[in-house]
Amino acid sequence: MKAPLSRRRFLSGSALAAGTAVGAPLLGLAGSAFAKRNPPSRPRVDPEQAKALGLEPVMINANENPLGPSAEALKAIDGIAPSGGRYLGQMQGELVQEMAAQLGVKPDYIVPYAGSTPPLTQTVLAFTSPTASLVTANPTFEAAWRTAGQVKAPVHKVPLRADYSHDVAAMCAADAAAGMIYICNPNNPTGSLTPRKDIEYALAHKPQGSILVLDEAYIHLSENAVTGADLVAADKEVVILRTFSKLYGMAGIRLGYAVGRPDLLERLTYFGTNALPVTAMAAGLASLRDPKLVPTRRAANTAIREDVATWLTQQGYACSPSESNCFMLDVKRPAREFMEAMATYGVFVGRSWEGWPNSSRITVGTAEEMSRFKDAFAKVMAGERGPVPLKLTLLQDERRDGTFMVV
Ligand SMILES: Cc1ncc(COP(=O)(O)O)c(C=O)c1O
Repeated sequence: MKAPLSRRRFLSGSALAAGTAVGAPLLGLAGSAFAKRNPPSRPRVDPEQAKALGLEPVMINANENPLGPSAEALKAIDGIAPSGGRYLGQMQGELVQEMAAQLGVKPDYIVPYAGSTPPLTQTVLAFTSPTASLVTANPTFEAAWRTAGQVKAPVHKVPLRADYSHDVAAMCAADAAAGMIYICNPNNPTGSLTPRKDIEYALAHKPQGSILVLDEAYIHLSENAVTGADLVAADKEVVILRTFSKLYGMAGIRLGYAVGRPDLLERLTYFGTNALPVTAMAAGLASLRDPKLVPTRRAANTAIREDVATWLTQQGYACSPSESNCFMLDVKRPAREFMEAMATYGVFVGRSWEGWPNSSRITVGTAEEMSRFKDAFAKVMAGERGPVPLKLTLLQDERRDGTFMVV
C-alpha cells in the first residue's frame, strides 16, 4: 500500500521544521482578525488568454478530474441522450439499487441528487438552526459554513490537529448544543485523512441530538480512508455524502447521493427532491459497474501526486500529507501573488484558505499538466513571469462566485 505524503516530508520544507510552534494552522497565519481584513480571494482567471498564446491552460484550481467521464460513461451518455425527453424514473431505481449494493445498505437508505452540494445544503438546513450549531474543522470545505450562516446557525471552526486529521475530541466538546458535526474525509483542501477510530469517537461523543455528517467526496482516491457506510447500515445517526465529481470525472454531468437512515434522509428531502439528468444516471451506472475504474484512476492519481509532492519538498516547499487529488502547498508568500504569477504561464492553481494565506491548494492533474506546473513553479519562484497578460479582478467576497462554484 502506498504511503501518503509523510508528515516528516511535509515538515521538512515548512516553518515548523525551523522549530516554531507545532500545529496544522501554521501553514498560514491563523486568526480570524486576519481573515476578516483579508478574506480569501482569487484572481478572476482567463484561460482563454493563455489559449490565444498557444498555451493550453492547466486547470489545477478546482479539484476537478482532467480525465473527465470514463470511456464507458461516455458511451452510456451517448446511448441515453436520445431518450432525454423522458424522466426515466425506473433508471433512478436501478441506480439506487447499485449504489446501495456497493455500500451494503438498503436502497431506501440512499437518495441520489445532481451532485453532493444539494444534499450538503439540505443537511445543514435540516440539522442546524440559531440554537443548533454547525461544528467543522478548519480548514475544510466551507460550503456548509455558508448555509449555516444563511439560517443564522452558529459555526464552530476547530483547527485540524498537528497531523492534519480532524480534532474529533475538540469538535465534540465545541458546543453541547451542536446540531451537526461535519467531517470531510479525506479533507478538502488538505487531502488529509481522519482515521476510523476518530470517526467512531465522534459518533460516540457527539452532543446528544446532533448528527454526524461524513463528506466522502474524495474517498475513492484514498488508499486508506474507511467509509462510514457500515455505521449507516447499523442505523447510527450518520449521514454520508458521496459525489461522482471527483474520481469519476463527472463534475459537469452532476451526480451525487446521500446515505442515511430513512427518517434522517426525510429531513433532507423535506427541502426538495428533483428528477436527475438521464445522462448523469446512465454515466453513473456505467461508472459504478466498471470494476477497474476506481483502482486504475486512484493508482494514477497517487503516483502523480507523490511525484510532484516529492519534487516540491526537494525544492524546499511543504505539502500537506494527502490521500486525495489535492494538497495544500506552503508557497512562503501570499498565495494570491503566487496564483497570479503561475497564471502568467497558463497554470491556474487553487486559492488560499481562511487563516492559511501563504498556502495554495494544488489539484493533481495529469502527468503532463504537473510537468507544466513544475516548470512554471521553478520560474515563478526564481522571480520570472510568463507571457500571459491577465486582467485580474480580485474578488473580495467569494460569495460572488456563487455557491455552486465553491470547490
Ligand atoms: C468536500 C466536498 N464536498 C462536496 C463537494 C461538492 O461537489 P459536487 O456538488 O460537485 O458533488 C465538493 C466540491 O469540490 C467538495 O470538495
